Amino acid sequence: MDILVLGGTRFIGRHIVETALTKGHKVTTFSRGQSRHLEGAESLTGDRDGSLEALRNRTWDAVIDVSGYVPRVVRQSAELLADKVGHYSFISTISVYQEATAPITEESPVTELQDPTVEEVGGETYGGLKVLCERVVNEIYPARSSVHRPTIVAGPFDPTDRFTYWPRRFRQGGKVLVPGRPDYIFQYIDARDFALFVVHSVEQSLTGTYNAATLPHTWGALVAACQKVTGSGEPVWAEEDWLMAQEVRPRPWSDLPLWLPSDVGRSMFGVRSDKAQAAGLQFRPLEKTVRDVNDWDKTRGHEPLKTGLTAEQEQELIGLRRAAQDVQS
Ligand SMILES: NC(=O)c1ccc[n+]([C@@H]2O[C@H](COP(=O)([O-])OP(=O)(O)OC[C@H]3O[C@@H](n4cnc5c(N)ncnc54)[C@H](OP(=O)(O)O)[C@@H]3O)[C@@H](O)[C@H]2O)c1
Repeated sequence: MDILVLGGTRFIGRHIVETALTKGHKVTTFSRGQSRHLEGAESLTGDRDGSLEALRNRTWDAVIDVSGYVPRVVRQSAELLADKVGHYSFISTISVYQEATAPITEESPVTELQDPTVEEVGGETYGGLKVLCERVVNEIYPARSSVHRPTIVAGPFDPTDRFTYWPRRFRQGGKVLVPGRPDYIFQYIDARDFALFVVHSVEQSLTGTYNAATLPHTWGALVAACQKVTGSGEPVWAEEDWLMAQEVRPRPWSDLPLWLPSDVGRSMFGVRSDKAQAAGLQFRPLEKTVRDVNDWDKTRGHEPLKTGLTAEQEQELIGLRRAAQDVQS
């Protein structure tokens, strides 16, 4: 197939491009040219907001839109490509869902922006804007579009460092502050598994909306995988009430990434992806994701992470934790 990827050079899009190329498809990327060009793909340069000339006078079997955040901007490419592509696949997010609605299925209520003309993409507006983007795609491509709603995506080239924090921290060794209890849960989706499903959905012209999230994993399993892969690190478990009292921030995935207090986590980590699994989504083992992220992270040297506690903050908290436990015993 001839596949156009709007974006495609950073992380999720990059895995989608690599997966499509591996499966023998011809891939064209469209981006501003600020990130690295991917070998094997044709690259077109332009800006989604107002500079789509490079997409004119071309046709593709399908487009995968990885970089749409604002409905007005998504409409530009969706309208321009309407008679140039067969299928439109839009990458959305589970942030479209209202909170506290677990289990989260594709039918769960989505957030509505009070001001649908807002264009600033931030914590308050990200999910609501994606809802509007999805609607634009479904309006212009009725019966020939799919919408993908992934949870936190993990894998090599992840620019957010949310998953990477944990293999990095265990690799560094010593005592590692870990939130909650070993039976607390979290979810993620490996970028390669997600990419395989998105490309599959295009190949099969799947329509409709699909969540993408692993089955819930426990923090105990994450710790065990990190220890096995890195051969180091000793967890110091800290209850969430104590962490909150120390003003350790769970959001926006800041201090101990992937951790949400259990009341929020029960909802956010209750994402059901049965529909996508029935249509072909598969999951590689957690340990494999940890291993690959760790291997990739090692190639980055000592580049500081964009999220998580600093070493000083973490060791101070571990000291406080130990002192609190000594007082209790
Ligand atoms: N990371 C997560 O955990 C997560 C979770 C849920 C959903 N998502 C969704 O996944 C997508 C993000 O994936 P990604 O950033 O890894 O994708 P990506 O496709 O690998 O990278 C973003 C691409 O968009 C291009 N781009 C950005 N602004 C552009 C513009 N104005 N015009 C043309 N091209 C533009 C960038 O290249 P240039 O900079 O060169 O233009 C780059 O190629 C988003 O839709 C996000 O909502 C992510």
